[in-house]
Parts: sequence; C-alpha cells; structure tokens
Amino acid sequence: MTLQKSFLFLVLLCATVMADVNQQYNHFLKQHVDGVMTTQKCENQMRILNLNGPDGKCKVKNTFILANPNQVKAICTGGGTRTSGNLFQSNSPFSVVICTRTGGDSHPNCTYKGSSATKKVIIACDKNLPVHYDGDVDIGTTDGK
Ligand SMILES: *[C@@H]1O[C@H](CO)[C@@H](O)[C@H](O)[C@H]1NC(C)=O
Repeated sequence: MTLQKSFLFLVLLCATVMADVNQQYNHFLKQHVDGVMTTQKCENQMRILNLNGPDGKCKVKNTFILANPNQVKAICTGGGTRTSGNLFQSNSPFSVVICTRTGGDSHPNCTYKGSSATKKVIIACDKNLPVHYDGDVDIGTTDGK
C-alpha cells in the first residue's frame, strides 16, 4: 500500500468505527433517555420500543433517565467517575423511571409496571458517548425511596 492509500484506509476505518458508535449511542438514547417519561407510560413505551431480552421475550426491565441527552452524555466527559473499564457512574443523581414486566411473553401482549426513583446511574461509554445502561446505585436517601 502506498502512504496515501494507507491514510485513506485509516480515515475510512475511523469513519466506520464512529458510525457504529453513533448508532449505539442513538439506540441508547431511544431506549434509556426520555425527559418526559412517566411511570404511567411504561406499557406504551415498551410496546413502541419493542425491546426483547436475551431469551427472546419482552425485556424484563428497562430504565429511563429523565434528562436531556447532553446531561447524560456529560457522564462520559467529566460528569461521571470511572468505576471499571469503560463504566462511569454519574456524579449527580438522576430521576429515573423503571419499567418492570408484570406479564406476557411477547409484544404487544406484555404488561409493565412503572416505578420512579432517584439514582446515580452507571453507563458504559465508547468514544465519549454513552452506549449501554449498566445499572444504578441508590443515593442513600432516608425518605423511603
Ligand atoms: C397476544 O394475545 C392474543 C390473545 O391471547 C393471542 O391470540 C396472540 O397470539 C398473542 N400474540 C402474541 C404475539 O403472543
């Protein structure tokens, strides 16, 4: 390969990797970030998103962060603390809505129940973008949440 060809190859490779990460990021946003989510909307949202678990049945549990995309993205770039590998825990708590399946096997027949909480969230970052919701931690409130 000539130098020019190698360079072009590298540029294309980078572009491909970025496109892939952007796709994961967009999927993450759709699935986990919704500034106007409510517990009442769980059933409808889960049906629209059509998420399934590894067993092929309706996803058992899905958490929505009530924030705008930039607030969540910031967890990857200073708004969070690395816990291990590419996982970052938010420094500030977020309001979340957790949708838990209560019945049914496949969409659109699955039923969901929503609950709300305030938690620090743990997300996986790739190229400074959130790509996966890994979990959350209680913030030790004493108001019974
Ligand atoms: C949903 O439930 C209806 C009524 O019980 C049933 O006929 C249908 O096959 C179910 N659909 C799926 C995708 O499981």
